[in-house]
Amino acid sequence: RWAYVNGRYLPHAQATVHVEDRGFQFADGVYEVVTILDGRFADLDGHMERLGRSLAELRMDWPAAPRVVERILRELARRNGLVNGSIYLQITRGVAPRDFKFPANAKPTLVMTAKRVAAFAKPEQLEQGVAVITVPDIRWGRRDIKTVGLLAPVLAKQQAAESGAYEAWLVDSDGTVTEGSSSNAWIVTGAGTLVTRPPSHAILNGITRLSLLRLAAERGIPVEERPFTVEEALSAREAFVSSAGTFALPVTRIDGRPVGDGKPGAVTMALRQAYLDYAK
Ligand code: PDD
Repeated sequence: RWAYVNGRYLPHAQATVHVEDRGFQFADGVYEVVTILDGRFADLDGHMERLGRSLAELRMDWPAAPRVVERILRELARRNGLVNGSIYLQITRGVAPRDFKFPANAKPTLVMTAKRVAAFAKPEQLEQGVAVITVPDIRWGRRDIKTVGLLAPVLAKQQAAESGAYEAWLVDSDGTVTEGSSSNAWIVTGAGTLVTRPPSHAILNGITRLSLLRLAAERGIPVEERPFTVEEALSAREAFVSSAGTFALPVTRIDGRPVGDGKPGAVTMALRQAYLDYAK
């Protein structure tokens, strides 16, 4: 297994960064997770574009030209023989003595790791759907930036796991669902309308989300980008989550109560297939 650190491909166990890396001390960095499906990167352009946006929002420089970063990504996948899996890519503001303000001349740190995936979903997750719990969204005000500051999602996901759930849906102070701890949240209403929250500072605008919206539109599925409450989700016909690697995954229980008839929905499964067909 190979990783990449600042210009070098290294065995995973030897891939290290300095203790004064600002990612380590301040979570002063951004990341992307890109899926490889049957040997092809899914939505790579979208992920690269969002990476550029995250960097710009934090006034960070690209460690190398985007096309060079993309070449490294492809090379790391090749060296790992990845057919199905993902690449994790992280850029931090670099190594400097600890001081909150931007360092004068630190060079950004670029690291990438590769992961093989045997199956993107377990058969029972597709047959029965997954459970989610709801927890208050205690994250900061710029969730649109894909930063490595992930403590609130870590706590939420741990709580989900301890409750036997797959994901935690984060709920804003007004009672609406923002998104999952590492996914976007969707419902399908009784009338068959697909509903997901519009992009804003309140959520990460998922690349999978954007592709699913386009695929839904192409199939004539009505879409409303608006917030929804936990109560509306419980009375919806279907619910699902989306992210790189989960694509669209049916949610059939929220806080232990069934969604719709408690089975994965037809629209969800059709969108999942549409995404796989598109990305492969
Ligand atoms: N998470 N919302 C949040 C908060 C996320 O962390 C993610 C992705 C998404 C979905 O975005 P995309 O479709 O671009 O993957 C939405 C990644 C997978 C992670 O942190 O591992």
